[in-house]
Amino acid sequence: MRMRAAVLEEFARPLVVQEVELADPGPGEVLVRLVACGVCHTDMYTASGVDPSGYAPTVLGHEGAGVVERCGEGVRLVGEGDHVVTLFSPQCGECVHCVSPLTNLCLAIREQQNLGYLPDGTTRLSRGGEPVRHFMGTSTFAEYTVMPEIALARIDREAPLDRACLFACGLSTGLGAAMKTAAVREGSTCVVFGAGMVGLGAVAGARLRGAERIVCVDMSGERLELARGQGATETMIGGEDAVQRILEMTDGFGADYTFEATGNVAVMRQAVEAARMGWGLCTVCGVAGRGEMLEVIPRLLITGRRVCGSSFGGLKGREDVPALVSRYLEGQIDVDPFISHRISLDEVNRGFELMEAQDGIRSVIEL
Ligand code: CU
Ligand code: ZN
Repeated sequence: MRMRAAVLEEFARPLVVQEVELADPGPGEVLVRLVACGVCHTDMYTASGVDPSGYAPTVLGHEGAGVVERCGEGVRLVGEGDHVVTLFSPQCGECVHCVSPLTNLCLAIREQQNLGYLPDGTTRLSRGGEPVRHFMGTSTFAEYTVMPEIALARIDREAPLDRACLFACGLSTGLGAAMKTAAVREGSTCVVFGAGMVGLGAVAGARLRGAERIVCVDMSGERLELARGQGATETMIGGEDAVQRILEMTDGFGADYTFEATGNVAVMRQAVEAARMGWGLCTVCGVAGRGEMLEVIPRLLITGRRVCGSSFGGLKGREDVPALVSRYLEGQIDVDPFISHRISLDEVNRGFELMEAQDGIRSVIEL
């Protein structure tokens, strides 16, 4: 079929919205009609050309939600008409990681996905007979996508898809970091560095886990206001003395849990240092640039602080994403404040501009 999609033709150039060819879903694959898609930093990072593993031409986008239009041979996990959220982090349910409760990093299709191919090593996207590669296994800046069934989370049909798409990446990453990776304990003190989509999700997750104090640190007063809306009990503007100020707020000890959601390694260091001696757990969610190093004073670890990382919030997508969407439908997660702009596919480059200008949290493309 022919469809419209936003193609990254050349790094550091605007995406070009155009007609491309999308082949039928193969065995184990599903054709999804996309309804909405968030614009995320990872899309912009790849488009910029700074990511050394990037490639072009490709159809970007990974925060998608839509409706299953057609299933390829042997598909059993979803059916026609199902509402789905796209998963750049799939869940095959069978690999050594999927059967372990300790990680969500499914191994099933990793290699081909990273190269821009579907699991069989080919693409469904093309243009004039030339293959166009997939991005993050999702390619959701488009009217349709073909994806492996293991990379689709079937959600409640009641959930509006323009909100549900946020659960495909940043929001779930933050919620999961607090609820699953750190498994924040009731009554604890949490500090969240960064009030973008991931950090705000971590604030909401800490609240849902019953944290007593949730301190959010960011450089923007506006974003800190949003953090209060998600359950932050205290906020502060970041800076070099942030750790000192957090220690002062916590009787000199630091927080039970800290979360880093900026990707800045200097802030990561602060997140480690703001964790409490004895048991403080620092969860790193932000993605640092390749080659960057995180400096940690070993004595801080000997005295009981722990550091861990969280990819996609430690969530096993097909199980955990629908559960989060249900909690949203129950009124426990307030998604609307995250949607700052609604744009069309043709305005996708404006979505990048708004992000660069740090204008709002998320632009959602309505397809
Ligand atoms: Cu993302
Ligand atoms: Zn797996």
